[in-house]
Amino acid sequence: MRGRFITFEGIDGSGKTTVVHRIEPELRRRGYTVVLTSEPTRTWLGDAVRESYDDDVGPLAETFLFLADRAAHTERIRDWLRTGAIVVSDRYADSTYAYQGARLEGVVKDPIRWLQRVSAPAILIPDLTILLEIPPRLGLRRIADRKRKVRFEKERFLTKVAKNYEKLARSPRFGRIDASRPANEVARDAIAVMDRRLGLRVR
Ligand code: TYD
Repeated sequence: MRGRFITFEGIDGSGKTTVVHRIEPELRRRGYTVVLTSEPTRTWLGDAVRESYDDDVGPLAETFLFLADRAAHTERIRDWLRTGAIVVSDRYADSTYAYQGARLEGVVKDPIRWLQRVSAPAILIPDLTILLEIPPRLGLRRIADRKRKVRFEKERFLTKVAKNYEKLARSPRFGRIDASRPANEVARDAIAVMDRRLGLRVR
């Protein structure tokens, strides 16, 4: 049996990680095997990605590193899905379309389309992508006291990223959630979207 592949997306500070960790126990309670994963991955490829944006190797080199990390991650996701698990990923291909789509403006023509074409052989299309939407200023305020700063956490840049997500979310694969509310409400809505779209009933 093939499992289900669900991805969570949103700008920095949108609360993806918190929400993903609230959804996991609910799915387990319903009798599903759940694999929680994330990108950049916790592998040497993910470490290379993190170094690339810390050092700013430039938008193209950074893009290819994100894609390499994802290509390897996708093979593992494929294996998990084959066991029938529900795979939940905190960020996946849409992060590259949204973030590197903004980074590659003026570097390649029509960056999002370009990224989607290059990515096609190396990705799986998620069954559902939940986009947590929050105004960039509020997202930044939420993560202001984090010790580890990431290069992309700037209001002007995140505003472009949010616009890219908005464009991507026109696809019916997306469910959009207002993430400016408390985590409990956001998690409850995320579960409701999963129920509606994928019918994940108690087994
Ligand atoms: P983040 O989700 O913050 O990872 P962690 O919680 O492990 O620090 O991701 C790190 C940054 O990388 C974040 O600003 C989003 C960015 N990013 C991209 O620019 N492109 C991508 O394809 C991915 C997966 C992340």
